[in-house]
Amino acid sequence: MLPYPSSEISSDPAVKQEPRTHAPDKIRIVGGQELNGVIPISGAKNAALKMMCAALLTDQSLHLENMPNTLRDIDSQTELLTHLGCMISTERDLMAINAKNIHDLTAPYEIVRKMRGSILVLGPLLARFGEAKVSLPGGCAIGTRPVDLHIKGLEEMGADITLEGGYINAKAPAGGLRGAKITFPKVSVGATENLLMAATLARGETVLGNAAREPEIKDLGECLVKMGAKIDGLGTDTIRIEGIGALSGAHHKVLPDRIETGTYLVGVAMTGGSVRMQNARMEHLSAAMGLLSQTGVEIEQDGEDIIVHRNAARRLKGIDIMTDPYPGFPTDLQAQFMAMLTLADGASMVTETIFENRFMHVPELNRMGADITVQGHSAIVRGVKTLKGAEVMATDLRASVALVLAGLVAEGETVINRIYHLERGYENIAEKLRNCGAQIEKF
Ligand code: EPZ
Repeated sequence: MLPYPSSEISSDPAVKQEPRTHAPDKIRIVGGQELNGVIPISGAKNAALKMMCAALLTDQSLHLENMPNTLRDIDSQTELLTHLGCMISTERDLMAINAKNIHDLTAPYEIVRKMRGSILVLGPLLARFGEAKVSLPGGCAIGTRPVDLHIKGLEEMGADITLEGGYINAKAPAGGLRGAKITFPKVSVGATENLLMAATLARGETVLGNAAREPEIKDLGECLVKMGAKIDGLGTDTIRIEGIGALSGAHHKVLPDRIETGTYLVGVAMTGGSVRMQNARMEHLSAAMGLLSQTGVEIEQDGEDIIVHRNAARRLKGIDIMTDPYPGFPTDLQAQFMAMLTLADGASMVTETIFENRFMHVPELNRMGADITVQGHSAIVRGVKTLKGAEVMATDLRASVALVLAGLVAEGETVINRIYHLERGYENIAEKLRNCGAQIEKF
């Protein structure tokens, strides 16, 4: 049980949305320090955001532990769920959500536009209440990112969906959504999750074929099972869900963030040093670990921790990487690896297959002295001896953190503007790095 009673759950926005001043907008880094020490890994943002939506499937409280509660994206999801009528309380890494008194089935543009992850309320609302109106999230910096697969899947479950005024208007058939056999023409994390959640309350069996297999989806599925859902095949590309009448409350601990882990692993690979990452899972990073070892970095699992060493006197070796859905190399680590390869021996090729516009870090890295040329979906990275500090601009979450990593090894001072992108997905990044010897501050 969580150390607070559900009676403490408050619907007062002042309680849920603790006024947080994100006043500093820049980060200053003086490069050249090795990283040595301990970094506690936070709960996975991309699992936590979806589990918050899963709370909509029941009128009982869902208690989530190991939540990355200081992230902006978690704030945005909290704002949306509160708008719908959820009562939410947070304390340290704990969050309790109760969706008993939902009074609004519309996810408005003003909130959805802040974060695409809010589209994940569509499946749960439709499944439990029979209707939902959700703003289309639109494109974002890394690509157009349509939601057609979410919509088509729900239509196959009997939903009547129209698009009007920038909104998805969805209605379930009389008697509720019905189970269906849905094979995705393309692997999609979000569509798999939306339909997985919707199917838990549908009539009959749903089979999701060519489903995404990311660990965050498996974790969401395990949370749903604790809520009473009947699900088979989690972690495989075929997920079977037997719909039931109602789900109950549950307590679930969010898995560690593999992308945060991979980001700090790359950081140590770049600066040299030795860092213990607490509460991190190597098995979720197999593709990235294999490639990192090829560059000359040593990595070992020690119980619940990962330890990474790199002798800064030895140059890293160049490698080729290509992003792919899990268990392939994650697109969410592409920018960080590219920052590392700017300093590796020889030429490396980085190919992005998931998002069409995920090379926005390239011009910024080049401003710091990197030698990167983009050709279509690939970038050729020719290793240079040193990077030089510069003033650069953060453009999206992972591009921003790639610039932080570059700043850690660059000669002199790097200033990164618009760091709110970083605060969407990295808890206490400056503090975590400073504790390992980095000279980094927000201002
Ligand atoms: C999730 O986005 C993550 N976001 C992304 O992390 C991650 O990069 C991505 O999965 C891939 O791993 C969250 O979990 C909140 P997709 P999602 O549906 O679900 C196309 C980060 O930095 N597509 O798997 O939106 C789509 O355009 C973020 O933490 C359709 O064509 O990704 C893309 O090309 C960024 N139609 C591809 O599929 C659809 O209906 C994969 O997208 C849906 C997707």
